[in-house]
Amino acid sequence: MKVVVTLEELRAARRTLPDPLGLVPTMGFLHEGHLSLVRRARNECVSVAASIFVNPTQFGPDEDLDAYPRNLDRDLSLLEAEGVDLVWTPTDEMMYPQGFQTWVTVDELAGVLEGAQRPGHFRGVTTVVAKLFNAFQPQRAYFGQKDAQQAAVIKRMARDLDFLLEVVVCPTVREPDGVAMSSRNSYFDETQRKAAGMLYQALSRAAEAFAAGERDAETLRRLMSETLATEKLARPEYVSVADPDTLEELSGPIERALLSMAVFIGKIRLIDNMLLGDGA
Ligand code: PAJ
Repeated sequence: MKVVVTLEELRAARRTLPDPLGLVPTMGFLHEGHLSLVRRARNECVSVAASIFVNPTQFGPDEDLDAYPRNLDRDLSLLEAEGVDLVWTPTDEMMYPQGFQTWVTVDELAGVLEGAQRPGHFRGVTTVVAKLFNAFQPQRAYFGQKDAQQAAVIKRMARDLDFLLEVVVCPTVREPDGVAMSSRNSYFDETQRKAAGMLYQALSRAAEAFAAGERDAETLRRLMSETLATEKLARPEYVSVADPDTLEELSGPIERALLSMAVFIGKIRLIDNMLLGDGA
């Protein structure tokens, strides 16, 4: 496995890798969720590359950029064990040199849900992912359903800007109690970690109601909110039943939907989601 830091080294190493190349962009502190993307890429592609870069431009001023967990040595040995060919670990200055002033923005799709709560977040994500796509020139890029809106926004960007690659979205990997794996779970104490299970319970309650025939969007939203309200430590920011393609909030009877939520447990903000109906 080759590990490179500069863009020049990356481009030179990329040229030696046979197509198709699968790319897995990450911010490091890797867990089974990240590794599931790497394994999928390893299965589907001749060459596999990953990036580790805690992207400052996607964090808001009051967010956890400085506290974001890091462990590069551990990450590299995990990637090596999965048979990754190439890893890029650029510095902030390499990604955003003095004078940087060009941004990629997606409009409506990035303006709702996470985008409404975290202004500028998706502008940072789409800009860095566009740079990664240009740098690696992958034929496929792998993202997690865990960040459903991020995956949708990146798919839109790739289509709209004619990136010649396939965006592959992989299922959410969960802990035994249903908590979606996340680098941020490492912040929790024991009580908070237990409380975090309520997101999955709320999603599951709505999914079970849907499976039993409940189709009313407002009822599904209420079931999720009621379930979250049983956990004192959980402070919901939004609870959504949205169109999986446009991410617009739904009302009345639905056939398919993206259930999603952002919930604070103490100071830690968690997101999770579940697809209902066709495509789930
Ligand atoms: P990061 O949070 O490190 O996640 C990297 C990739 O792993 C994303 O595609 C994310 O959706 C996926 N992932 C995280 N947890 C997962 C889980 N439990 N199951 C399945 N997939 C999971 O997302 C980012 O980094 C950044 O925004 C990035 C795309 C790298 C741009 O900076």
